[in-house]
Amino acid sequence: MELDVFTLFPEAFEWFESQRHVRNALAEGHRLGYVNYRDYTPLTGGQVDDTPFGGGAGMVLRVDVVEAALRARYGADPTDVRRERRVLALTPGGRMLDDALVDELAAEPALTLLCGRYEGFDERILEHFASDRLSIGKYVLAGGELPAMVVCDAILRKQPGALGHEESALEESFSQALDGAPEYPHYTRPAEYRGWDVPEVLLSGHHAKIREWRLEQARERGAGNSLP
Ligand code: ADE
Repeated sequence: MELDVFTLFPEAFEWFESQRHVRNALAEGHRLGYVNYRDYTPLTGGQVDDTPFGGGAGMVLRVDVVEAALRARYGADPTDVRRERRVLALTPGGRMLDDALVDELAAEPALTLLCGRYEGFDERILEHFASDRLSIGKYVLAGGELPAMVVCDAILRKQPGALGHEESALEESFSQALDGAPEYPHYTRPAEYRGWDVPEVLLSGHHAKIREWRLEQARERGAGNSLP
């Protein structure tokens, strides 16, 4: 899969790219590229944003700047680009990211992520260049970089070969394998700690019983009675 992130801060992704599952996914042939809006702005002095019409606080990412960056990357009118590949604008008011949407996106051959900054996007960017508006939660962050990393992380770790042999994205929280329920609890050594015991069944070596217990735990957590 090819992931293109449009951002004013490509350097913010350095740590993200150093993560093992991301490196694994890239080694498997997936691609993660960055386009800095500022490199393509048609305005002088590297300007990328402007004050909002009608007044108000903050600055708004300009539509002509985003168009120039999309054109430079894809050599096409951005209103057509979104027909060829999904162009996801990261914005708090967008569709909420969940495991089902991650699965849907992970199956795409190519995705473009548009990071906003400041007060966000000129609405025409969302209307004419984006195919989707995506939110990682009902709160406002200072920009789309962290949301873009969240989306890329969730997508890349689903790619075959991204996680180590011992790990699997198949049976984890919110997956179909667990009927969308949160994952069952995990324990490791020591088996007893301050009198807190690991459930007996997990030490039994009885795989069928362990599986049954885990599914039951996931179901119970899904019913909302997991944590105090
Ligand atoms: N940009 C700023 N806040 C955001 C959020 N919660 N989700 C996606 N993009 C954002």
